[in-house]
Amino acid sequence: MFKPIITFVGLLLALTATAVEAEPIVIKFSHVVAEDTPKGKGALLFKRLVEERLPGQVTVEVYPNSTLFGDNNELDALNNNEVQLLAPSLAKFEKYTKQVQVFDLPFLFDDLEAVNRFQKRAKGRQLLRSMEQENITGLAYWHNGMKQLSATKPLRMPTDAAGLAFRIQPSGVLESQFAQLGASTRKIPFGEAFGALQNGTVQGAENPWSNIYSKKMHTVQPYITETNHGVLDYMLVSNTRFWFGIPHRIRTELEGIIEEVTYEVNRAAEEANQADRERIRKAGTSEIIELTPEQREAWREAMRPVWKEFEPVIGADIIKAAQTVNRKQRH
Ligand code: LMR
Repeated sequence: MFKPIITFVGLLLALTATAVEAEPIVIKFSHVVAEDTPKGKGALLFKRLVEERLPGQVTVEVYPNSTLFGDNNELDALNNNEVQLLAPSLAKFEKYTKQVQVFDLPFLFDDLEAVNRFQKRAKGRQLLRSMEQENITGLAYWHNGMKQLSATKPLRMPTDAAGLAFRIQPSGVLESQFAQLGASTRKIPFGEAFGALQNGTVQGAENPWSNIYSKKMHTVQPYITETNHGVLDYMLVSNTRFWFGIPHRIRTELEGIIEEVTYEVNRAAEEANQADRERIRKAGTSEIIELTPEQREAWREAMRPVWKEFEPVIGADIIKAAQTVNRKQRH
């Protein structure tokens, strides 16, 4: 007599279990740049591959241009699991680890290939794990590109920057870098950088070509000096508890996808930056100043004291490991 009821209850339980199992994991991926940038494209490629390979199991929502969270709150939001993937620039982790600041040291890396070599070495890979205590797990490094200096006046020699105010990311290294030049700095979130340049709060900035072009900064900066003085790269990060809570099979698949996306982002980044440089040149709004080797050396010398200042906090071993990736060794 109870049998039909038991069968019915069993069916109900089975259906509920399937419904629970079928609930997809939602990954919100928030970032502050435009979609047509190395990071913006990487986020969209990640979404496409995840939804192709884990249909119904994982859904990815991408929020570009600081539309969900901006520089001021995105890492707190990650910690609160309000967002599950971010790719902040390496300059934005100072609050959580001093070691990652190595990437901000001026004239440390000759080019993006040197940066790439360091990121692949043991020391570079260790830094991905340097914030686990803070519930932040580094999953990969993504390139944007080398930074250029832009301003309202031509910057040919380091002394030309004296007295100007520059927009910077929240990094002590970057603050000190401009202090060496006699310039002041304002830490301004990326989403407000264009406005600050436009209304004259600051007169200059440092950005890779792709960020200058996609945020139209060239339209308010009549001079851009091709200094390649530092790198702007990203760490793709997740909330440690969230990430390791994902079932092993799915997480392994996600890690494979991240590897593929990382390869693609890093393969295409330099070309994308050069294409944006060309677009800026064609737009004719800014003069692109190329430095002679002597002028570039003068910038290097002027900014060099930053290394000594930050060696005790970053660690001499990390700086040394980063230095050895350049093809031309300098002492
Ligand atoms: C910046 O604030 O200048 C960059 O970190 C923005 C970005 O994400 O590329």
